[in-house]
Amino acid sequence: MNKKQTLKETREFVRERLHKEATGHDYWHIDRVLRNARLINKSEGADVFVVELAILLHDVGDRKAIHKDADDYSIAENFLNGKKVPADILDHVMFIIKNMSFSNSFGKRQNTRISREFAVVQDADRLDAVGAIGISRAFSYGGNRNRPIYDPNVKVKKFLDKKRYQSAQSSSIHHFHEKLFLLKDLMNTATARKIAAKRDKYMRDFLKQFLLEWEGKR
Ligand code: ADP
Ligand code: NI
Repeated sequence: MNKKQTLKETREFVRERLHKEATGHDYWHIDRVLRNARLINKSEGADVFVVELAILLHDVGDRKAIHKDADDYSIAENFLNGKKVPADILDHVMFIIKNMSFSNSFGKRQNTRISREFAVVQDADRLDAVGAIGISRAFSYGGNRNRPIYDPNVKVKKFLDKKRYQSAQSSSIHHFHEKLFLLKDLMNTATARKIAAKRDKYMRDFLKQFLLEWEGKR
């Protein structure tokens, strides 16, 4: 197995599968997460092959991307098997993919030991959910799901389990409180924490202005 060639073929496989995705998991999301990871990894020294394989494949089996009720991890696993990726690398990549998502973090203890590669991939993915891009993705997702941009009559809820979080029918503005504002404190690496803080501030300024305009003020 040639690592460079495998990454190239994985990218093509993913581009093919995600080019029409409309819930925020499209190919450009993958492309941006790769760039976030390269930035973070300058100071982390994680294994680039594991990191990039995990990022490329992390959304191919997402329940929203495949229009199913549950995630399907076999798509990524079968692909890696077909490329003769060694078992230890395959296991590591699959572990990252299965455990990295925000919805899968409910009920898990913080600070359980994770690999450097896991830390970089999860942070890179989460950075794409905050800041200007995060705002864009939230409204794009909300539109796809026929959600209102905002509903002042709905109270903001704090979700404690995956099921309730995933079945919530709140507005896109509510999503800022339910997830986006929580992400900066969930970063694993110092570099991502710093970037997230800046992007978090940008989102809070946006929300302030949004609510002013909603009230008919300047
Ligand atoms: P994860 O797989 O980590 O749980 P998601 O797949 O839920 O993440 O999120 C994909 C993108 O869609 C993210 O940018 C996220 O912020 C956005 N998103 C998810 N749920 C909602 C929602 N209810 N309203 C608005 N945006 C959402
Ligand atoms: Ni993602």
